[in-house]
Amino acid sequence: MRVLVVGGGGREHALVWKLAQSSAVREIFCAPGNAGIASLARCIPIEADENEKLLDFARSQDIQLTVVGPEAPLMAGLTDLFRENGLCIFGPSQKGALLEGSKSWAKDFMVRHKIPTGDFKVFSSPNDALSYLQKASYPLVVKADGLAAGKGVIITRDFSEAALAVKRILEQKEFGSSAGEKIVVEEFLEGEEVSVFAVTDGTTYVVFPPAQDHKAAFEGDTGPNTGGMGAYSPPPALTPELEEEVNKKIFDAVISGFQAEGIDYRGVIYGGLILTSRGIKVLEFNARFGDPETQVILPRLKSDLFPILYGAAKGDLSSLAPPVWYPGAAVCVVMASEGYPGKYEKNKVIYGLEKTKEMENCFVFHAGTAFQNDRIVTSGGRVLNLTAWDFSLENAVKRAYDLTGKIEFEGMYYRKDIAYRALQRK
Ligand code: GLY
Repeated sequence: MRVLVVGGGGREHALVWKLAQSSAVREIFCAPGNAGIASLARCIPIEADENEKLLDFARSQDIQLTVVGPEAPLMAGLTDLFRENGLCIFGPSQKGALLEGSKSWAKDFMVRHKIPTGDFKVFSSPNDALSYLQKASYPLVVKADGLAAGKGVIITRDFSEAALAVKRILEQKEFGSSAGEKIVVEEFLEGEEVSVFAVTDGTTYVVFPPAQDHKAAFEGDTGPNTGGMGAYSPPPALTPELEEEVNKKIFDAVISGFQAEGIDYRGVIYGGLILTSRGIKVLEFNARFGDPETQVILPRLKSDLFPILYGAAKGDLSSLAPPVWYPGAAVCVVMASEGYPGKYEKNKVIYGLEKTKEMENCFVFHAGTAFQNDRIVTSGGRVLNLTAWDFSLENAVKRAYDLTGKIEFEGMYYRKDIAYRALQRK
């Protein structure tokens, strides 16, 4: 099989790495890829949002499976375009991707299908929002309605903060014009967050192990929100009983909801959940694998990834053998550029990558990296995902941090407390 992976971050490196181990996969292409992916796949200079170019490429190269990594191409209708042209692609339709692409649509969907989530109200007029917020009790969460790279969620402690959030989103359009058309005002839920994943063919689904992300930039969950500064799997907070509950109350309900509404969904349902004293609730859904969660989940997959993605894309997972997972734990520490998630410099030479090559059960997944002459340099905010697997979480943490000691680039920073919640429980 010839496979095309769309995207160029750490998640896509992990997907390419795992697909490259499949005996069913003959050649992998990645659009646009990065300097790490280039050692496993042919990187092609097409951006993830260039739908027509991706279609032309897949047709001309006889690609038998395309796997979409990021959310933006899903929202831009890439899967619909490929399917209209008879090509096999992993990812939900544009309508299905609204689960991530519109927070108000997702909230209404959850209400329609009795999926547990926080109370909320939706506003498009700043005046209506302000008169509601004036009388509300705090804290409250104000969310931009569309894709905002994880940045459009603002926790507000009083009316003045909420009014500022309304101004930033609806008036100044800080998170883009489409994300700034509506806001969702939501009750603030307290508890531990976990990320859960189901791969579905639209009828049945396969559950992947859960993970816990670390969204804040700095230790102790302080500082601005990022795309994710590290992850580990499995998080002990999600007990086997709770996993059962997630399947019944969330994944079953989402899939039967899609079926009832005639939505073609062949891809990942990513539930961003919170474990509150009033039970599990959905904070948000995403329509693709998590980043950096994928970087800790795929090293735990012992069996082949290809039949899972191909079966889902074809709309038939009924004959799939249950995936086999390694025991133990995996931990990923994200190395980022100074200034991220704000402004940062690029083109800093990355030293030490060769020292990580022989470290057993250690994986360096590249995110924002590129070649400059024959050197590898930084090209993004999140640069590398240093991942380690071991039989115990403690050892996996230690080994992931051993990896950080090998790498150097100007301005690099990373959180020193990945997996702290799980370690504190012990
Ligand atoms: N790790 C958060 C996300 O993938 O959206």
